[in-house]
Amino acid sequence: MDAMDYGSSVTPRALATEAVHAGREDLASLGLHAPPLDLSTTYPSYDARAEAARIDEFATTGARLDGPPVYARLDNPTVARFEEALARLEGAEAAVAFASGMAALTAVLLARASQGLRHVVAVRPLYGCSDHLLDAGLLGTEVTWTDPAGVADAIRPDTGLVMVESPANPTLAEADIRALAHSCGSVPLLVDNTFATPVLQRPVAQGARIVLHSATKYLGGHGDVMGGVVACDEEFARTLRQVRFATGGVLHPLAGYLLLRGLSTLPVRVRAASTTAAELVRRLATDPRIARVHYPRIGGAMIAFEVYGEPHDVIAGVRLITPAVSLGSVDTLIQHPASISHRIVAEGDRRSSGVSDRLLRMSVGLEDVEDLWRDLTQALSAPPAAPPRAAAPAGVPAAVGRPVAASRPSGR
Ligand SMILES: Cc1ncc(COP(=O)(O)O)c(C=O)c1O
Repeated sequence: MDAMDYGSSVTPRALATEAVHAGREDLASLGLHAPPLDLSTTYPSYDARAEAARIDEFATTGARLDGPPVYARLDNPTVARFEEALARLEGAEAAVAFASGMAALTAVLLARASQGLRHVVAVRPLYGCSDHLLDAGLLGTEVTWTDPAGVADAIRPDTGLVMVESPANPTLAEADIRALAHSCGSVPLLVDNTFATPVLQRPVAQGARIVLHSATKYLGGHGDVMGGVVACDEEFARTLRQVRFATGGVLHPLAGYLLLRGLSTLPVRVRAASTTAAELVRRLATDPRIARVHYPRIGGAMIAFEVYGEPHDVIAGVRLITPAVSLGSVDTLIQHPASISHRIVAEGDRRSSGVSDRLLRMSVGLEDVEDLWRDLTQALSAPPAAPPRAAAPAGVPAAVGRPVAASRPSGR
């Protein structure tokens, strides 16, 4: 077990121990076992002058308030427990949680832009919507796309951020984080660690200054909570809290509760699913129906493969595996990035970053490997899907039979 050192005052504890204890150390002294869920939107105070001083303090520094948060857009005690736990797992000073992964990235970009640093250097591929947010300049930022070797040359005086996903969505391409951090010089490197999770990789230890997660994925782990989180130093966390306060992309306390609970099983889930994924990769690698398999050196529960046949037929043919976007759940999901998760990226950019039209991405869950293989191998041999039928009107049950890929809504 890898021990984690949080400073000389704390005895280093293994990740599995931190996963079930971080953010919960005070519970026994409160006479509690499960963390309390605080759903308050506001907090009463009979001393308006003292409240005014606390609001001023938060607005000017972004430091977490001692005592109740005044209003739920400033802070929430349940969410703060999740933030504390995630920061510990990532080996970072602090973490700030948001309503989704995209809200988290938005806050990072706004925080840097508010310091006059509107230029971003980014390495493709990124998750389709992250690519779109940067490429479309929706937040007034400008992006330079480069490969990792070009990062140092792409940095300008107004560069506020270098961004990479490793392993990347959906090709699972890996970056040498340490080398990249070196190329960044004084510009912070943001690593989207959604696919690896701190179980497989802690980017801060390799020089990254900002670690982002779509908490919707492995941190929650059950496909029933949406959230995002940024782990970083306390100074940047203060700016992020100020941005969150002003723009309102807060994580709901119930989501914070579920994410804290998700963290406690994160190491067990990621390791078990990774073992299954590695076995599926081994079988796919010698399967004559598969043109290419993508799997990162660090392992993990995400796999990608290119088929010789029609990828839509594989999506239409699965029965146990769920054909759906998203990832990191206890059950196995498969999707076609060119149609769904990376649909919003221009075709040429998608292809040049390795997202081929024949690529399928699979998030391996906790099912038995033989059941998954049986389903996958029958889907790979499935005859072509029937042509799409008109969607049934709302309330009318769909016809029983093979689902038709083309009739599915193309969520992103
Ligand atoms: C790697 C990665 N980062 C960020 C996001 C965005 O997260 P969310 O959907 O929680 O906004 C996603 C979503 O799929 C993702 O895969």
